[in-house]
Parts: sequence; structure tokens; C-alpha cells
Amino acid sequence: MSFPASRPRRLRRTPALRALVRETVLTTKDFVFPMFVVPGRGVSQPIGSMPGQKRFSPDLAAEEARRLWDLGIHAVLLFGIPEHKDAVGSSGYQKDGLIPQAVRAIAKAAPQMVIMTDVCLCEYTDHGHCGLVEKGEILNDPTLELLAKQAIAHAQAGAHVVAPSDMMDGRVGFIREELDDEGLENTSIMAYSVKYASAFYGPFREAAESAPAFGDRQSYQMDPANQSEAIREARMDEEEGADILMVKPAGPYLDIVRAVREATDLPLAAYQVSGEYSMIHAAAERGWIDLEKAMLESLVGIKRAGADIIISYFAPHAARLLK
Ligand code: PBG
Repeated sequence: MSFPASRPRRLRRTPALRALVRETVLTTKDFVFPMFVVPGRGVSQPIGSMPGQKRFSPDLAAEEARRLWDLGIHAVLLFGIPEHKDAVGSSGYQKDGLIPQAVRAIAKAAPQMVIMTDVCLCEYTDHGHCGLVEKGEILNDPTLELLAKQAIAHAQAGAHVVAPSDMMDGRVGFIREELDDEGLENTSIMAYSVKYASAFYGPFREAAESAPAFGDRQSYQMDPANQSEAIREARMDEEEGADILMVKPAGPYLDIVRAVREATDLPLAAYQVSGEYSMIHAAAERGWIDLEKAMLESLVGIKRAGADIIISYFAPHAARLLK
């Protein structure tokens, strides 16, 4: 027998051969596109820290949703950036608030679109923390009531999925009960189960004007060094009634995506966050990497690690390449 008997390069000789043995294939249906919603009409503001991304008023968010649908992206995740911020994030749970308005507008423009909404206080509070603050501490249990009110307002407007991103203990079970009490038992919960205290959220905080006014988020978001804790968080959310689990960020935490994938049977989402997006753009702008190749490589890596759902600002750009 000639040396070596096994030659993996045989199957890499042509594009068609490579396609035949490809193990992971991205499709537009894998993606959820995160969108930032601001008050007003006809508003479209570029986000400086995230090249190509914009903040939209509800009417233009609806137009964008229609374009996304036509591109094959069938799910969006909405973040509200209100005019008015206060200590309790009261503009986050108004029945006719920004997100309920956007949900209704999108449902009208793209009736089949899966509408997910971020549920958290940080975009709505003047202190920028994800929970109520007392004497410099982030309170857990009193925050749950406000999160549930927000989730109910979003669900009543027609959101299919509410996605709590605050990392308070017990919020999935609490929100589930409150939704059910309101007759909203068909609204799903996608839990930001494993959310790390990450530097990669930097560009988002500019986009959402949600940087904490004091301190940081380490007393509620997870320590990047921990894996066993990720499994515990994921299992707790599953027991509390989550329908979809999420790991965030994605790229620096692919081992966690894999570990959570193996620990539960629920659908698993991974969130390629703002910093991951902006880093690739910044390096490409300098000519150091190829934007589209790096983008697709980062996305296929997330799917290969075990994510069923990829939340990414690259979704429309990737969709145009995958079509
Ligand atoms: C709000 C929230 C954040 C992100 C999603 N939801 C910011 C944070 O926790 O500071 C980050 C998303 C991104 O960076 O793309 N709690």
C-alpha cells in the first residue's frame, strides 16, 4: 500500500466535493437579527460603534422587517431606547410604549415574522443597571416584578418570544407564571441563561445608551472563567420553564455553547454580540482581514459548536451571500 493510505485531501479537491462532505451548512433561517428601536417617525440613525447598523423608529423598523423577511430572515430581536429614563425603568412596561408600538408595526408589515423582545431594565433606567438599585446594590426580587410587567406589555402587543437578559435569579419562573396568569401561555421565553460579564458588549452600550452609570455588571452577569456554573444556570432556566436557552457572547464562548448543547435538549441560541461584530468590521476596514470570509467563518463556527439559533448583526449581510 502506498503511503499514506488515508488522504483527507482527496475530498477537498473541488468545490462540489467539498460541498458534498460539508458537515455544517448555514442558512438564513438560522438567524435572528437584533434591532434597536427609538421613538418618533421616519427616524433612522447610524450607530457609530457598529458600522452598517442603525436605530429605527417603529415605522422604519417595520419597513426593515419587511426587507429582512424577503431576504429570508424570519426572526428579529427588539431593543427599545426610550427618550425617558428613570430609576425604575417605567417607560419599559407601558402598554403603548416603544416596543409594543414596534411589535405591532412589524407584525403588520411582516405578518409571519417571529418577533422577539429583549426584556431588561438597563435601557430604561437612568442608572443603566439591569435591576433596581438601592444603596449601590442591584436588588434581585423586587426587579422581577418590573421584568414581568415589561414581558407582559411586549407579549400583549404580540411578541412571540420574550427574552430576559437581566440575569436576576429566578426571573424565568417568575415571568412564566405572570405571563400565564395573564392568559399569555403561548408566549415563549428565550432565556439569556448564560450571559457573561463581557467587555464585548461595549459597542452595544453606545447603541442602546445603556452603560451603567456606576460600577459594572459583575454582581449579576457571569464570570468569564466559569463553565460548570453555565450548566447550572442553563438547567435552572430549563426547570423554570424556558423554551429556548442562550449563551452570550458566542465567539469567545464556543466551548460553553457545546457544553450547554450537551447538557440540555432545549433549542439553543448563541448571541454574536456587538463587540464581535465591530471587531471584524474594524479589522476589515484596515485591510487586515476579509470582511465577508471572516463573517461567514465566525457564523459557521457558532453553528458547528452546537447553536440552533444565531443572533447576529451580520444576519442581513450573511443572508445576501447565502441566497
Ligand atoms: C441588556 C443587553 C446587553 C446586550 C444585550 N442585552 C448589554 C449588557 O448586558 O450590557 C448586549 C448585546 C450586544 O453587545 O450586542 N441587558
